[in-house]
Amino acid sequence: MKKRIAVIASGRGSNFQAVVDAIGAGLVPATCVALITDNPKAYAIERAEKAGIPRIVIDYATFPSREAYERALLSAMQDLNADLFVLAGYMRILGSPIVRAFPGKMVNIHPALLPSFTGLHAQRQAVQYGVKVAGCTVHFVDESLDGGPIILQRCVPVLDGDDEDSLAERILEQEHIAFPEAIRLFCEDRLEIVGRKVRIH
Ligand code: GRF
Repeated sequence: MKKRIAVIASGRGSNFQAVVDAIGAGLVPATCVALITDNPKAYAIERAEKAGIPRIVIDYATFPSREAYERALLSAMQDLNADLFVLAGYMRILGSPIVRAFPGKMVNIHPALLPSFTGLHAQRQAVQYGVKVAGCTVHFVDESLDGGPIILQRCVPVLDGDDEDSLAERILEQEHIAFPEAIRLFCEDRLEIVGRKVRIH
């Protein structure tokens, strides 16, 4: 049976698009029931519109506090009755009440080979550190920063002369493969969290 997935994104939404395209191509047994965004200017909204996916805009700037915003977000998420929440470039840290409400039901993509280079500007961190291999990671979300159980990773070489932007572009190509693949595995019930590891069946 198809899973109900909801995507949460703050920006351009290229990963969201990759997931939508994979669903459309019949590669991922899921229905995307909503795009949720905290940013009314997110390009992801236009992508959702084109794909006929309902948009839920919870404009962070209109709330008196982070707690009030998160209460609204949690309530919107609960209403969706989704099997999986997909963080695709959601640029805020989710508070504990939301993370705890959906254990094992939330995945994120990060543009680094975790546990290296957590947080913002992971590609810049990789270039500055001088690593020779970079990449992306899809992981379940827990209460740590980019620290939940890893589902899969893809690597890319860091080339002489790479800057943050050129590396980010090359990593993004791999993100667009890794994210739909990880979501496919989830939707096929092939992922099992065992301690801090993910077994793929
Ligand atoms: C990606 O690099 C992703 O790894 C990170 O945020 C970026 C989102 O890009 N979490 P897009 O909005 O999916 O194009």
